[in-house]
Amino acid sequence: MDARRAAVLETLGVDRFVARAPPVAGGVAPAGAVSAPGWDELAAQVAGCTRCGLAATRNRTVFGVGDRAARWLIVGEAPGADEDRQGEPFVGRAGELLNSMLRAAGLGRGEVFIANILKCRPPANRDPLPEEVRCCLPYLHRQIALIGPQLILCVGRIAAQALLGVATPIGQLRGRKHVLEPHGTPVIVTYHPAYLLRSPGEKRKVWQDLRLALEVTRGRSA
Ligand code: URA
Repeated sequence: MDARRAAVLETLGVDRFVARAPPVAGGVAPAGAVSAPGWDELAAQVAGCTRCGLAATRNRTVFGVGDRAARWLIVGEAPGADEDRQGEPFVGRAGELLNSMLRAAGLGRGEVFIANILKCRPPANRDPLPEEVRCCLPYLHRQIALIGPQLILCVGRIAAQALLGVATPIGQLRGRKHVLEPHGTPVIVTYHPAYLLRSPGEKRKVWQDLRLALEVTRGRSA
């Protein structure tokens, strides 16, 4: 990002997040680095990935689905049991609710791209380990570069903290626009649909977040 743009964002009070390069151990090529593959090569890399221990326990990798030129990219945490069986993100009950959230924003599931921080299911749906995030995040960054979305909607605390590289509580991440570098992509954070299934009273806040997301993308070229 050039200095002028950084200064403008600072004046506007917009937080910027720079994608952290994976740490380099002893001068060896970083474990998390990927080249700049196209879609087919990237999908093949993910399908055959053995970068972390989740390769040993997964049934299927979950690359992501949707429009590869989508205006909105939805980012969740990691595949669950249904997704691990079917190889597609957000296909269970949380997926149905995500579809409803998208419909509320005037979008069909096929009009967005849906992906996760992790491409493989952590055993028993435990939280992703930092090492797993470090190994997997470069795949998502490559997807972001290929899609070039106008907006990233991050669902859930874990996805938001991993993508933005912060430990801030979700209550403080919601309600404002973040910018993900090096892409310069606006990021809006909202609650995870699985949380909404447990706490339906929070749906009103999600609607506020979706309205903010719509405002952020309004006026940006199609
Ligand atoms: N939860 C997620 O975060 N991602 C999925 O794909 C399914 C459930």
